[in-house]
Amino acid sequence: MRRDAPMRAGNRFKLALFSANCSGGLARTLAPERWDASWEHNVALARMADAAGIDALIPVARWRGLGGETGPAGYSHESTTWAAGMLALTQRICVFTTIHVALISPVFAAKQLATADEIGSGRLCVNVVAGYNESEFQMFGVTMLEHDERYALAEEWLEIVRRLWTSSTPFDFDGRHFQLRSAIGDPKPYGGMQPLLMSAGASGTGQAFAARNADLLFMVAVEIDGLAPRLAALRASVPDRRIGVFTSGHVVCRPTQREADDYYHYIGSEMADQRAVDQVLVNRQNQQSIPPAQLALMRNRIAAGSGTFPVVGDPDRVAETFRRLSDAGLDGMAIALTNYLDELPYFCEHVLPRLERLGLRAPFSPNEEEHDETHTLAVSRP
Ligand SMILES: Cc1cc2nc3c(=O)[nH]c(=O)nc-3n(C[C@H](O)[C@H](O)[C@H](O)COP(=O)(O)O)c2cc1C
Repeated sequence: MRRDAPMRAGNRFKLALFSANCSGGLARTLAPERWDASWEHNVALARMADAAGIDALIPVARWRGLGGETGPAGYSHESTTWAAGMLALTQRICVFTTIHVALISPVFAAKQLATADEIGSGRLCVNVVAGYNESEFQMFGVTMLEHDERYALAEEWLEIVRRLWTSSTPFDFDGRHFQLRSAIGDPKPYGGMQPLLMSAGASGTGQAFAARNADLLFMVAVEIDGLAPRLAALRASVPDRRIGVFTSGHVVCRPTQREADDYYHYIGSEMADQRAVDQVLVNRQNQQSIPPAQLALMRNRIAAGSGTFPVVGDPDRVAETFRRLSDAGLDGMAIALTNYLDELPYFCEHVLPRLERLGLRAPFSPNEEEHDETHTLAVSRP
């Protein structure tokens, strides 16, 4: 039996920790307490999150840093190796890998992912990304295709991985982007069922790709207004199953709203690594998730959390923001904290009980293996 129920069913509003594998996490700030992504810190964080009932860990896939004064993401653990280590060291939490389809061979990936999945007894989840950072493609000597063609390649990549995961006989593959002879792979994913698949990308093409292929869409939510109809339209385009939708955010939670706002101003404005913010803006030109004009207005958000959704406030405000996001139709959020290890205990102590009272999360008991099936995500593929 796979053990990925926290992500497939479980809490109505799921919470994952995002980007802890990367120096700086999601922040592009000079604040000295910014995240140091050492392995020791990651292990301590994963164990803390596992014990507190956080649903998942999600790494970002980064191959080079973002420059500026602090070089955010310059030091980042390779996401599948990181996930395998995290799975070996935790008991219950789901662990994602984030994988660049254009840069990693699908034959290599199918075996690598199945191996990590076995290490975690079926707790591996997979976030596929088409990629947008041209300098990373250049590092690999790979031409970055035009936006929609990257998704066409992703479709072939996924078909190959799925066939390797299910076929017991060698097969040939003749696509536009991949031509393979006599491909075969073992082990297969744990428990005879494929890992939960998420797809990060929010353009029309990216959403259509997720609708066809993924259990979960990982999208950018810039504001709550207008989110509900957007999600309703997305779900209407996938009538045969319930596609899950996650977004990414950064959280500053402090005892009072004033303290939270002051700290947000400090990391995102006073101490912003402006040159790293500039670099984010340049790199994102190939990404449609946030329109470039809007991005330029978001410098503080980029410094504090890479332009993801800001959740800033006292515990009541933070819990209320999650409630509004849940009411709009989101299944969960992948959050970053400025310093995950320092800030997670306060978050767990003060925000999680409020989410339980709001009916968004069940009280967590480490020995509890049962999960509420009411909020089951997409129908799983065999
Ligand atoms: C929530 C989210 C997380 C992402 N994580 C990564 C990542 O870790 N590495 C990466 O190279 N791209 C990442 N991407 C970008 C994807 O590579 C995607 O190709 C890019 O968003 C362009 O597609 P789009 O125009 O459909 O959004 C992410 C995108 C989103 C929306």
